[in-house]
Amino acid sequence: MRAVDIIHKKREGHVLTNEEITFMVQGYSNGEVPDYQVAAWAMAIFFKGMTAQETAQLTLEMAKSGDQIDLSPIQGIKVDKHSTGGVGDKTTLVLAPMVAAAGVPVAKMSGRGLGHTGGTIDKLEAIAGYQVELSRDDFFRQVNDIGVSLIGQSGNITPADKKLYSLRDVTATVESIPLIASSVMSKKIAAGADAIVLDVKTGSGAFMKTLDDSIALAQAMVDIGTEVGRDTVAIISDMDQPLGHLIGNALEVEEAIQTLRGEGPDDLHELSLILGSHMLVLGGQANSVEEARAKLEQHIQDGSALDRLKQLVEAQKGDVEMIADPNKLPHAAKRIEVQAEQAGYVAGIEAESIGIAAMLLGAGRETKDSVIDLAVGLDLRKKVGDQVQVGDVLAILHVNDEKRVDEAKARILQAYQLSAEPVPPKPLVYAIVTKDGVQRFV
Ligand code: URA
Repeated sequence: MRAVDIIHKKREGHVLTNEEITFMVQGYSNGEVPDYQVAAWAMAIFFKGMTAQETAQLTLEMAKSGDQIDLSPIQGIKVDKHSTGGVGDKTTLVLAPMVAAAGVPVAKMSGRGLGHTGGTIDKLEAIAGYQVELSRDDFFRQVNDIGVSLIGQSGNITPADKKLYSLRDVTATVESIPLIASSVMSKKIAAGADAIVLDVKTGSGAFMKTLDDSIALAQAMVDIGTEVGRDTVAIISDMDQPLGHLIGNALEVEEAIQTLRGEGPDDLHELSLILGSHMLVLGGQANSVEEARAKLEQHIQDGSALDRLKQLVEAQKGDVEMIADPNKLPHAAKRIEVQAEQAGYVAGIEAESIGIAAMLLGAGRETKDSVIDLAVGLDLRKKVGDQVQVGDVLAILHVNDEKRVDEAKARILQAYQLSAEPVPPKPLVYAIVTKDGVQRFV
């Protein structure tokens, strides 16, 4: 077999065999197929696509390229959750303790943030002492004991995806449905969960800007899950504005705590309940999403969801006082307002620019090695639909180092899209994709 023939075959729009896909992935992993051939192959896939069978084979090969976690020492149906990437998305911090309180074991490995997106592990490190690394045995034991553990990704999950993703990043081949679907699902499959809930973002801040493309991506991932025997449900949710109000590591922990107390922003509260309800159904703890939602609401109301976060933090050696009193979380030295320069109604808040503004303040990494400031970030005071007068506060910056404040302010002003006319509220969830089909809400 030769890589050049496989590239040519895909370039001409033909369907590759399992053996040809295995040849490319294994050859790339062990250095026998060079970057330039895989780059050409990725571009051919970008233009010609892949069938469901080809995508499933690519996924399985990448999943097999490194460690595959066996979660069977943990009792119960393990349900994982994955978001395709948003700004202000702290749903994992809400969902993990909330669904654990309702009886679904959560054994979750999360990543760090890069560029304009945040990572759950960085957010957890805003809690003093929280250990993001546990041995495999301690991880299993903790989930069996208290139903939840959140740790950093192990070093050797899907190395083939890591290598291919870096190559795609610099060869303009990221936004390909089969390549994104196989990349996401290979990691989820290797991480060992029995069932998966996907939060597929749609809108200006997402990989997929249109609803049709987002549904196609969701469908591709659900098909892969079904093919490999992992029940998968995908929720298509809005990313035409960041989720919630607070962006930045300690700030997002604070907003997650508010939400677990039942005092969080509507969008974060609602999305957490929707994703959590599907996790409960897949985890066998509810017969319908309605029943699941009622259970989750009860766990918020009676304080057991927040208690479970405290247990999680305590088990991983974090400072529980910070959960009981979020004023004890790291706080930035200064607050600086960003005021509106025009009047109107907020029609959209470009999430990527907001993420970059947070990064400029130090909340995110510009490169893999950047050191982040856990206390800084921003508080969006106006969201889509709100009316704005000149001089109104659009956002409050939480700042330690003022060096790049002007740049951050400019990004925020640029992110806010104002309309002269009132803007009707946007749906938070546009569609749900399961193995039985697509349910559209718009
Ligand atoms: N997230 C991933 O993990 N992979 C992609 O290809 C895109 C988003």
